[in-house]
Amino acid sequence: MNMTTLARPDIVSQIGNTPLVELNSFSTSSVKLFAKLEWYNPFGSVKDRAAYWMIKEAERKGLLKKDKSVIIEPTSGNTGIALTGISQALGYKVEIVIPDKVSDETKKILKRLGATLHETSDDLCPRVGAGTDQSISLAKAISKPRPDIYYMPNQYENDANFLAHYESTGPEIWKQTNGDVTHFLTGCGTGGTITGTATFLKEKNENIKIIAIQAQKNHLLQGLRNFEESSMPDLFLRRQKIVDEWFTATNEGSFRLVRALAIKERLLVGPSSGSVMASMLKTAEKLESGNLVGIFADDGTKFKSLYDQQGVFTDTEYYNILKNAKNLSKPVYAFV
Ligand SMILES: Cc1ncc(COP(=O)(O)O)c(C=O)c1O
Repeated sequence: MNMTTLARPDIVSQIGNTPLVELNSFSTSSVKLFAKLEWYNPFGSVKDRAAYWMIKEAERKGLLKKDKSVIIEPTSGNTGIALTGISQALGYKVEIVIPDKVSDETKKILKRLGATLHETSDDLCPRVGAGTDQSISLAKAISKPRPDIYYMPNQYENDANFLAHYESTGPEIWKQTNGDVTHFLTGCGTGGTITGTATFLKEKNENIKIIAIQAQKNHLLQGLRNFEESSMPDLFLRRQKIVDEWFTATNEGSFRLVRALAIKERLLVGPSSGSVMASMLKTAEKLESGNLVGIFADDGTKFKSLYDQQGVFTDTEYYNILKNAKNLSKPVYAFV
C-alpha cells in the first residue's frame, strides 16, 4: 500500500466491525473474558470511530469544504492519527496540537500521514478546563479567528464522539456476544467509548454492569486520564451516571499485564489494554459466572520505546513477540 491507496476515500468503510476474541488462558469454564481488538481499525485504534463520526457530522452540517478546510485538534495520539488518516483520505488538511511528551513513534506516524504538528509542553493527556491546558488553548487560538478555514472537532465536547460508539461499538458487541454479555469494561479518555457503548448496551439489558477504568495520577498510560488530575470532559459529564463501578489502573499493574498478554495470548497490546485486563481480572475474581467484554484500544507497536524504558520486554523478547504475535493488524500507516 502507498500514499495513493491511502488516499482512497473508501478506506472509511473499513472502520468498525473489529474482532471479539476470547482470552482463553484467562477465562474459566464459567467466567469468560473477551477482548475487542480495536487496532483492526484502518488507522490502528478505537479512535477511528470517533474521528470518522465527527468528520461525517461536520460534513453533514456543511462545516467542511474538500481541499480547502483544515481540521485542527488537540490530541495525545490516537485521535490525531485517526483524524489525519481519514482527513487525508477524504481531502482535508490536518494540524495536530500535541504534547511534546508523546512518543516519538506516534509523532513519526502523524508526520508520515501528512499532519502538521504544533508541540506544547503539556502533560501526556490534555487537561480539560480553562487555563489548564496549552494544547486545547492553542488549538482554539489558531482556529477561532479563521472559521472560514479551520474546523476543530473537539472530541471533549462533540456528541458525534458518543454517537460513534452508540451506533457502532455497542451494536457490534451485542451481536458478537448474541446478547450474552454481563460486564463491559473500557478505559476512559474523553468518555466517548464508555458512554456510547454503555448507553446502547443498557438499552438492550439494563443489568449489564459498566466498569470504567481511569489511570493512576502521573501515569504513562496513553489514551487514559486520571479524573482528579484533570476534570471530566463535558462529553463524559453529560452521561457519567451510566458507570456502575470505577477501577484505577496503575502503571505497574498495566505493564505487568501487557507482558502477560504477550506471553499467554500472543497479543502485543498497548498500555491501556493492560489496564483493561487488570480490571477484567479483578472483576472476574468476584464472579461465579459471567461474560466480560473489554476494549483493547490499540496494539503495542507504537510503544517499543516506552516498553524499553519501563523494562516490560527485553529487545529480543519484543522482536520475538512481534514476529510471533497473533492478531496483529497492519494499520494503514505501516505501509506509508
Ligand atoms: C489508547 C486509548 N485511546 C482511547 C481510549 C478511549 O477513549 P475515549 O474515552 O476518549 O473514548 C482508550 C480507552 O481505553 C484508550 O486506551
